[in-house]
Amino acid sequence: MTTLLSIRDLRVAFKTDDGDVTAVDGIDYELAAGETLGIVGESGSGKSVTNLALMRLLPPPPASRVTGEILFDGVDLLKASARTLREIRGGRIAMIFQDPMTSLNPFLRVGTQLVEMLRVHDPKMKRKEARARALAMLERVGIPAAARRFRQYPHEFSGGMRQRVMIAMMLLNDPELLIADEPTTALDVTIQAQILDLLRDLQAERKMAIALITHDLGVVAGMASHILVMYSGKVMEESSSRELFETPSHPYTIGLMRSIPRPDLPEGRRLFSIPGRPPDLDRRPPGCPFAPRCSFARDLCHREHPPETRLSATHRVFCWAVDDVRAAVAAGQAGLTAEERAR
Ligand SMILES: Nc1ncnc2c1ncn2[C@@H]1O[C@H](COP(=O)(O)OP(=O)(O)O)[C@@H](O)[C@H]1O
Ligand SMILES: [Mg+2]
Repeated sequence: MTTLLSIRDLRVAFKTDDGDVTAVDGIDYELAAGETLGIVGESGSGKSVTNLALMRLLPPPPASRVTGEILFDGVDLLKASARTLREIRGGRIAMIFQDPMTSLNPFLRVGTQLVEMLRVHDPKMKRKEARARALAMLERVGIPAAARRFRQYPHEFSGGMRQRVMIAMMLLNDPELLIADEPTTALDVTIQAQILDLLRDLQAERKMAIALITHDLGVVAGMASHILVMYSGKVMEESSSRELFETPSHPYTIGLMRSIPRPDLPEGRRLFSIPGRPPDLDRRPPGCPFAPRCSFARDLCHREHPPETRLSATHRVFCWAVDDVRAAVAAGQAGLTAEERAR
């Protein structure tokens, strides 16, 4: 498969009143054309900042400092001209967010916005053709009575329908890459499942690559072929979905798995959350950022960040205790505390 997106040693630091904070601390990953990659991590892991860097939507220096490489089809987006970026954004790369109102204009009819989206990227397109294509797209994303909806304003749509409008708008120009940043987080469970189904169908139909970003590992489980687990601005584990769910090899991944809501379990046993909270970015410990919350942590973990361990061609992990973790997973004891495992 051809590589569409390649991120190399990406770092993002912000200048704040309390000094510099490093939000993204050396991320690497690749996304093949047509592939769905899940990017997972608790809130504050640097998922959104990574993607804003990719779209060049961060505040300009000195407020933010971005280093590394973001190669999209061979072009380094960090060095691209304003013109190239304008063509790529909303064209070859599209982005949808948790809140559709960040992309929709509340004062313009939905149809007008869709037509504009087409004409910005293809000024020669006739209004009539743009209208027909926009309408067809609204129908494709499952909006009933599309012709009537075309004339309505964003606030006249429910949350789920508004998310569909944004998806329609973003797909109009046939992107090769769709970045979906928590697209279903604000929606209730039923609507969430419908939107994910829609994205899955559209992906199969159009062969676009999707980067699906979420704090909920359950959301990517049925969607992504690969999963990247991020914590405190770093990659903890990356793997094919199958290997990740069969043999999770980072204690943080295991914690995220145990936090997936389980409607099948009785109320009291359902919700696990990883004890503790992510480190402050301006006071990140020198070693593995997860060490203070990790039941497998040893002295070394607090002193030095672990190197990458390759477990297979499609599975890598950054953990000093990886052998212990995998042994515990194999023994079905990964969810226990260190004391419980020792017994
Ligand atoms: N403009 C900014 N200035 C300073 N800090 C920021 C800015 N944007 C994001 N951050 C910080 O970067 C960290 C990562 O944020 P984010 O990428 O939004 O996390 P996620 O999307 O994984 O929840 C957070 O601690 C956030 O407070
Ligand atoms: Mg985010």
